[in-house]
Amino acid sequence: MSGRVLIFDTTLRDGEQSPGASMNREEKLRLAHKFASLGVDIIEVGFPAASPGDFEAVQAIAREVRGPVICGLARTRPEDIRTAWEALKDAEKARIHVFIATSDIHLQYKLRISREEVLKEIETGVSLARSLCDDVQFSAEDASRSDPDFLCQAVRMALKHGATTINIPDTVGYALPHEFEALITKIRQDVPEVAKAVMSVHCHDDLGMAVANSLAGIRAGARQAEVCMNGIGERAGNAALEELVMALATREKELGFTTGLKRNELYPTSRLVSMVTGILVQPNKAIVGANAFAHESGIHVDGVLKQPLTYEIMTPAEVGLGQNNLVLGKHSGRAGLKSRLKDMGYDLNPEDFERLFMAFKALADKKKEVFDEDLEALIADEILRIPLRWKLEYLNIVSGTVTVPTATVRIREGEKLLTGFGSGNGPVDAVYNTLAEMTGSQAKLLRFGIASVTGGVDAQGEVTARLQEGEFIALGKGADSDILVASAKAYLNGLNRLEYLKEHAPKTKNGMCSSAGGGDAA
Ligand code: KIV
Ligand code: ZN
Repeated sequence: MSGRVLIFDTTLRDGEQSPGASMNREEKLRLAHKFASLGVDIIEVGFPAASPGDFEAVQAIAREVRGPVICGLARTRPEDIRTAWEALKDAEKARIHVFIATSDIHLQYKLRISREEVLKEIETGVSLARSLCDDVQFSAEDASRSDPDFLCQAVRMALKHGATTINIPDTVGYALPHEFEALITKIRQDVPEVAKAVMSVHCHDDLGMAVANSLAGIRAGARQAEVCMNGIGERAGNAALEELVMALATREKELGFTTGLKRNELYPTSRLVSMVTGILVQPNKAIVGANAFAHESGIHVDGVLKQPLTYEIMTPAEVGLGQNNLVLGKHSGRAGLKSRLKDMGYDLNPEDFERLFMAFKALADKKKEVFDEDLEALIADEILRIPLRWKLEYLNIVSGTVTVPTATVRIREGEKLLTGFGSGNGPVDAVYNTLAEMTGSQAKLLRFGIASVTGGVDAQGEVTARLQEGEFIALGKGADSDILVASAKAYLNGLNRLEYLKEHAPKTKNGMCSSAGGGDAA
């Protein structure tokens, strides 16, 4: 067994379906460039028919990002497929991804259609997609819980009408590795013409087996794996890109597969995804977690110092961790910053660069050493975050053991400057009460988290605030060397994201996996 496995990244589509992780056009564009530079083969960048915002983001990426195939999702409905093509048609290489469920559970309760009708949908959907685009992927949603013989019929139908990639999802993360391997094997045996297409796997992590199932699928003949950076995605997430890629690379002798990824860009890409989505990476996360290469026990440290191979199966440098130590400080000028940004893969327009330079100078005044992670946080704060309705201008806190914490806050709303004053049980509570009063927001704070961007006592604090207003949930993020300022920024960023979500509300109400093709659909 050997060969090249194509990496299909769906962070910008399935990953975006993680609660609160919705991204705006600029954020998606930035990440798409990063995935292109990481070397993924295909980027699924959205579901153009779902909302005008998604359509615009897919179109912008299709027009601008070069290298990988740019893919957009569509149900079998003609209007979905035409909308997807309209958004994708300017791409250097475009792919339409058509899907419909094939399990009886989905047919009976969600789609309310018969197996015959599903086959008809596949015929019309795939044929239409193929009449528009040479590269068409078909996915049988909930494949792992489908009757295997009916699944084979669905695959046959998609191939007959021109599908060039056949994707077998474990939509609800239910399969066990040996079952998934057997399913891919069966399809390859019973539908020999599938050899003309690329077989793909798309595994969710509900039982923690997404990567194991993907590897099992690859062992059985799949040559494309659908993954998300940091394993984000619907519910428990998708197979983690970094885990699958490093498993293939670290165990290449055993498995015999390669990918085209620049592995030393895995860690920076993971950081950027976390910054943009607001979803923090757990410290013990394989490959990209803060502790993934940290050795604590004396015996381990002693072993690693004598010979890293004793406890390290791969090196941190291989995944791009800890390569860039001190980069800049308060004496660094524009040229230094520009060159560092270039190395990090950023090419900012003059206006954005100037804004970033000012923010960098302010940070370098407070913080002796400015690391790449600090710059990423500044870029996220200054450039990538959703266009602001409210922006923090000024914050003063009085707090301590014997005083009621109070906050005086000034924010900008367009041309207007608003000033407010309030108190709370603690300093963050005081800031949040004041901001809620000033913006008239009814949003509920569901969760608050804080982490440090780098090591050291002068590290910037990175705050995430998960807010809910009605059916909308948004994750706000903010970074600053003062954690109360970071907290205020995160709250305002969350409010801005809620505004954005309300304005760009998808036409379908629920998450895409569940609503797509549902009810009245197909
Ligand atoms: O999980 C799933 O089945 C999907 C499909 C749309 C591929 O995300
Ligand atoms: Zn999925």
